[in-house]
Amino acid sequence: MPSFQTTPGTRDILPPDAARWRSFVEEFDAVVSLAGFQHIVVPMFEDLGVFQRLGDATDVVTKEMYDFVDKGGRHVALRPEQTAGVCRSFAQHRPLPPWKVWYSGPNFRYERAQHGRYRQFDQVGVEALGSDDPLLDVEVIALAVDFFRNLGLRNVVLNINSLGDSGDRARYVEALSQYFQGRISELSPESVATLERNPLRVLDSKRESEQAVVAQAPSISGFLSDEAASHFTQVKQGLDALGIAYVVNERLVRGLDYYCRTTFEFQSTALESAQTAVGGGGRYDGLVEDLGGPATPGIGFAIGLDRTLLACDAEQVFPHPSTKADVFVIDTTGGMQALQLCQQFRTAGCASERAYGGRAMKAQMKAADKSGATYAVIIGTDELSQGVATVKSMVDGQQEEILLDAVVQHVAAQLGKVNS
Ligand code: HAM
Repeated sequence: MPSFQTTPGTRDILPPDAARWRSFVEEFDAVVSLAGFQHIVVPMFEDLGVFQRLGDATDVVTKEMYDFVDKGGRHVALRPEQTAGVCRSFAQHRPLPPWKVWYSGPNFRYERAQHGRYRQFDQVGVEALGSDDPLLDVEVIALAVDFFRNLGLRNVVLNINSLGDSGDRARYVEALSQYFQGRISELSPESVATLERNPLRVLDSKRESEQAVVAQAPSISGFLSDEAASHFTQVKQGLDALGIAYVVNERLVRGLDYYCRTTFEFQSTALESAQTAVGGGGRYDGLVEDLGGPATPGIGFAIGLDRTLLACDAEQVFPHPSTKADVFVIDTTGGMQALQLCQQFRTAGCASERAYGGRAMKAQMKAADKSGATYAVIIGTDELSQGVATVKSMVDGQQEEILLDAVVQHVAAQLGKVNS
């Protein structure tokens, strides 16, 4: 056993998985850039106060924060998500709205680690600040839909809900609280504790014994102001206009407290574990102001990279990008030829590999096979003395001798890398 292993809830992302992660982010960049979202990088840790705005009744803040006092005496926390950091950034720099940004990177939550739920996990996401246009909500949701489609996922269901404006939400929470208090004997001790802290979260209960009491609870739709109801209607009309399928789920409560009006979540039906949410988001029209900025509406979402890749595995889509070499140079004359040729191949744009340590022909040939290279370029003592190299197609086994000076250009042309 080595002395150290990754700590619970963290993982090494090894090759070739790490390359797949990078492609995932590149694919996301491609989708959201087409809609005018620009890349932003916010710090991985911030003043604890930034994240306390996520809600003092949420698990993310009360139980899962990685916070500590730094050597300068500042109370900071590793980011559990990136929306708060983006809004802090907006409040700090005051860019001209609408401000449309996207991000990627790790987040930290001290959760119970399990399959699909980690303590360090990656997200890609967007935030659009400065407009309360309901059709912006639609556009933002459509980006996530496009992205899942581009990955090849077919089994992702969009759930939407409206949490109304802050007044609506407060009235609803009050009604919900009264309702659950009236049926408290039907609730588990865990839900009774949740009720104290955040009645909305009781709706999230997955316990079989509580499904009836949850199902009969009042719905948020009865509490929406005319403005919030009309906003939600327009969001649904926009989704219909784009042909985006959705389920209105009035029990959809998100795990963070800053939401108002439109909220949504994407569930993968291909995942069997309890962790099926591959992404989620919504409006947070009060968050920038809460962080000391001007009153600024905002909407966004984040997609869990780790979990979405599990969904890709389940649907057998979005494979690893190819890491195959174009050329493998086999040199049995000491290695200097391979060193130089590999360098020249790379300059010509061909991915080239070689073996190290002066290994025998057979071992080098085996390494060439393993590399998946399209061509092997072989230089033995005979070839070297004649100033040639043997070029072997690893696809059909055909061989030809080419002048050493011309071999890079020849193979590059065969590979379509340069005009011959
Ligand atoms: P969230 O629902 O907390 O929202 O996270 C979004 C996604 O991140 C989840 O659907 C899930 O796929 C992934 N995720 C969350 N926690 C974990 C974990 N412990 N392990 C693996 N994956 C996880 C937010 O973070 C909001 N900032 C989204 C947002 C952006 N709302 C508005 N703008």
